[in-house]
Amino acid sequence: MKNIAVLTSGGDSPGMNAAIRAVVRSSIYNELKVYGVQKGFNGLIHGDVVEMNISSVADIIQRGGTILRTARCEEFETEEGIEKALNIIDIFNFDGIIIIGGDGTLRGAKTLSDRGIACIGIPSTIDNDLPFTDCTIGFDTALNTVLDAVNKIRDTTTSHERVSIIEVMGRKSGDIALYSGLAGGAESIVVPEMEFSFESICKKLLQGKNRGKLHSIIMLSEGVGNAIKLAEDIESKIGMEVRITILGYLQRGGAPTAFDRILASRFGAKAVELLLQGKSGRVVGIRNNDIIDEDFDVALNTKKKFNEYMYELAKILSI
Ligand code: F6P
Repeated sequence: MKNIAVLTSGGDSPGMNAAIRAVVRSSIYNELKVYGVQKGFNGLIHGDVVEMNISSVADIIQRGGTILRTARCEEFETEEGIEKALNIIDIFNFDGIIIIGGDGTLRGAKTLSDRGIACIGIPSTIDNDLPFTDCTIGFDTALNTVLDAVNKIRDTTTSHERVSIIEVMGRKSGDIALYSGLAGGAESIVVPEMEFSFESICKKLLQGKNRGKLHSIIMLSEGVGNAIKLAEDIESKIGMEVRITILGYLQRGGAPTAFDRILASRFGAKAVELLLQGKSGRVVGIRNNDIIDEDFDVALNTKKKFNEYMYELAKILSI
């Protein structure tokens, strides 16, 4: 193992830079040459590669986004694209690649691994939708960003005695809605993993209003969709005034929390360690505060378990 590459792909998440820094610094510490591939698999296909040194990753641990840039790359889903990437790997003589991103990115890493390239994945996505790890890089920061917004929206919701629907990201995962709903004291949490009853949402809103509650917050995961329809239905069914806030991309930016910086640093160092041990086709993760690694096949073919206990707890605590 002499030359390794690192890339970020898919949706960015706060803490990606801390992971890049950890990969680069751990590699240099272990006397490896380390290259940064720009714009995810696109950079691998087109040879967009720069050699990194200790200073390339100075002053980034606290920054959101990714200094390597990122992209969603359809070309890498074709045989031609994969062949081009393999060619660049050959030209630069990469002995191993560390790939940072979410589900789609890690599937891309598995494609390379299946073609004989030594690959290690690092889970980084705000969605927290990966089954093999207790959490992914960026989730904690996104959660805190959402909570800050919930607090502010709650102020104005109370002043006007309204209902607020707050739509959050997560793709098909309800984790951002669930955790921010529990931490923010939301009256209802609507996620793709659990069937929701419109009637019980309305009943809860009315019960709250009748006992003098001045606001109600509904956390809605984007995977369920249609905040506008839900708002209209509530207004026409029970006559309460509803406003919608779609938090969107602000959830993906900002300085990573201490938790995400530490997680990313541990993941980055572990990924380099695995390559140095001659391991490949594995993804790192965290379980009960231990850094673990898992085979791509197992990691990517397991279904993530939704935390129903937390969902029920949020219901109980918001009576
Ligand atoms: O996977 C992260 C995520 O932010 C999802 O929560 C969201 O659905 C999606 O990416 C948005 O993707 P894009 O950046 O391609 O619009």
